Amino acid sequence: QKNILTDSFGRKHNYLRISLTEKCNLRCTYCMPEDGVLLTPREQLMTTDEVFEIASLFVKHGVNKIRLTGGEPLVRKDFSTILAKLSSLNAELSMTTNAILADRYIDDFKKCGLNKLNVSLDSLSPEKFKFITRRDHLNKTYENILLLINEGFDVKINVVLMKGVNDDEIVDFINLTGTLPTCIRFIEFMPFDGNKWNKSKLVSEEFILQKAFSSFKKENILKLDDEANFTSRNYQIKGFKGSFGIISSVTNPFCNGCNRIRLTANGKLKNCLFSNLETDLLTPLRDHQPVEGLIAGKIFGKKKVRAGMNTFEKLNNPKLHSNNRSMITIGG
Ligand code: GTP
Ligand code: 5AD
Ligand code: SF4
Repeated sequence: QKNILTDSFGRKHNYLRISLTEKCNLRCTYCMPEDGVLLTPREQLMTTDEVFEIASLFVKHGVNKIRLTGGEPLVRKDFSTILAKLSSLNAELSMTTNAILADRYIDDFKKCGLNKLNVSLDSLSPEKFKFITRRDHLNKTYENILLLINEGFDVKINVVLMKGVNDDEIVDFINLTGTLPTCIRFIEFMPFDGNKWNKSKLVSEEFILQKAFSSFKKENILKLDDEANFTSRNYQIKGFKGSFGIISSVTNPFCNGCNRIRLTANGKLKNCLFSNLETDLLTPLRDHQPVEGLIAGKIFGKKKVRAGMNTFEKLNNPKLHSNNRSMITIGG
């Protein structure tokens, strides 16, 4: 029997990213417009049971890795219940979070085997953190990152770089990996609805590597092996406890090894981060209609690269705008 999660290029999709909420306790400029986004009415969002039901279906068909995203997953009131239910599935659990509420959930994470957390931290300067996130929570975020690391969690740090905003902190972040056993990943700023992207704000992989190579001795920068289905290409400074990586979705995509599918908080399947074609799974589920066929078609028809886009320039042109969501309702 053909696997419904394999696409026409033979890519097996065993990694499901579930957005639990469209809400967040930060307001990051790269993720959402200043005025926020129009929130989906509550009755159109997946309930705890529906999240579990859809996730189970994917696990039945070969998903073995689930990442919880948002908005900010920890602002969902029933987060602990969802986590406990998902932990009964045969899949590795992980989460992407801003960590502001993480200290309250340490026991839940441990009890449910949620061991991998990717935390967003875009600046080490309080002023810049506030400018980027429109909130003043650097201390809490940083404290909780240290807490998670001390409690033994596998923590990665995500830094979205923007020209003239935080690109002067690349070396500071790399130096942090001297003592912190974490992987700090620099992410190329990507275009989404309402985030005012344009190419001049992009800090490219090439720029980041140039910075690294002009600040550390060439022989001390080790290229680490790429992981299977990687998003980040990783490096380590000799003798440092942690490592750093670059997620170059714009200038050097990694779609060849893509194994990711996404489920939005309102129950739509997205086969690519940049695809605006969504398949509603929640309505048929509620109507007791079979959804396997919908999933199969959706995955099989997936484009080879970034929803078929080679460049992102057209997203910057309102006339050609491809109408994807704001990042806050996709979850990264
Ligand atoms: P790991 O499971 O730890 O490898 O996490 P991840 O890097 O897949 O997920 P995370 O949520 O930490 O995302 C980090 C950055 O990578 C975000 O900016 C995401 O938007 C981006 N990213 C994650 N998955 C994909 C993907 O499939 N395609 C692209 N282009 N970017 C992705
Ligand atoms: N470009 C690149 N990365 C982004 N993220 C959110 N919006 C963008 C964007 N426009 C990142 C966040 C988070 C992850 C899920 O996605 O920093 O760490
Ligand atoms: Fe996969 Fe789309 Fe990301 Fe490429 S851009 S790695 S196809 S989700």
